[in-house]
Amino acid sequence: MTFQVLANADLQGKRALVRVDFNVPMEAGQVTDDTRLRAAVPTIEELRKGGAKVILLAHFDRPKGKVVASMSLKPIVEPLEKVLGYPVAFAADCVGPKAREAVASMEPGEVLLMENVRFHPGEEANDKAFANALAANGDLYVNDAFSAAHRAHASTEGLAHLLPAYAGEQMRLELNALDRALGNPERPVLGIVGGSKVSSKLDLLKHLVTKLDKLAIGGGMANTFLYAQGHDVGASYCEKELADTAREIIRLAGKNNCKLFLPLDIVVAEKLAPGAPARVRDVGSVDDDERILDAGPETVERLCRAMNNSKTLVWNGPLGVFEIPPFDKGTVEAARHAAKLVREGKLVAVAGGGDTVAALNAAGVVDDFTFVSTAGGAFLEWMEGKTLPGVAALLDKRLPR
Ligand code: 3PG
Repeated sequence: MTFQVLANADLQGKRALVRVDFNVPMEAGQVTDDTRLRAAVPTIEELRKGGAKVILLAHFDRPKGKVVASMSLKPIVEPLEKVLGYPVAFAADCVGPKAREAVASMEPGEVLLMENVRFHPGEEANDKAFANALAANGDLYVNDAFSAAHRAHASTEGLAHLLPAYAGEQMRLELNALDRALGNPERPVLGIVGGSKVSSKLDLLKHLVTKLDKLAIGGGMANTFLYAQGHDVGASYCEKELADTAREIIRLAGKNNCKLFLPLDIVVAEKLAPGAPARVRDVGSVDDDERILDAGPETVERLCRAMNNSKTLVWNGPLGVFEIPPFDKGTVEAARHAAKLVREGKLVAVAGGGDTVAALNAAGVVDDFTFVSTAGGAFLEWMEGKTLPGVAALLDKRLPR
């Protein structure tokens, strides 16, 4: 993929509109995880060093085109200043007089955060007039929000057609890592897809079996596959109506020479509670009142062996209810084994998707993985083989329109 990168740009005195993803977890007005703020630092620094005025555009939550005070980006200013180590100005609107005045008072090297772009209906509608109003405050556009690139909105897509457009450092890192995992990976490639619902990952599974050499299915969604193969799943979560679909995916995997790993054994309990008494069962010997809550030891061991025999791992979704011990064991053991192989230089391991990052954090291995994406929905859509409008616009921009 070839993008215009900032290293080749003349930045001195230029107003750089930078789309970042500051849709961070927040509790009672406090940012509880600043990963996405830290991810924006390299691009901001590169622009400042080049003498640009750095104008940050971002969304927070889903205010649906209205001003919603609790969804203001103002509370981001302080944690962002902490991460950057210098002051950040704030504009109470991203277009119109307030935005214009705030930008007009900037000096080269300064950073300004604009209020939530989703306070305007034109953002999600990718309205041309709104995109033009945003563009009026910039000389160039940088998209550094891979995690919002699955949205064809004015600040993620429209702007790329209106100003000279560049990929930021985080965008570049994400795309390179994803390319190493699925675009041009070293083979064999093993995928792990977990999480509870087959229904939310149908497109993903159907695409992956055409791309991967091996695919391990875990988490609640594995129950649907076990049920489809005629195994009793007791009181487990299971989308029985998707049994035919699960069989179709098994068939597709066979047709595409993708070796499918379904659980051999599982961990069950009568209730889902911290420290609940758990038992290991072979698949097919689950009692009526038991629920499958984690992958069993034999399953995890086989998965680790599959990792040993792979060059690349791409992981989305936990193998069990990792938030509630002891049902975190399968996910944690598999994640630690992958991390060990990465440290030994034997495996490229790329992971992404909301729950996945939390699960790897719980296992304490986020820093050991080759790459952990900051994206949720965008990572999934990319893994499904879909075109991300924000990325496509950077590749296919016509300057200026
Ligand atoms: C995310 O948090 O995944 C992105 O910021 C996209 O947010 P959205 O799902 O509200 O568009």
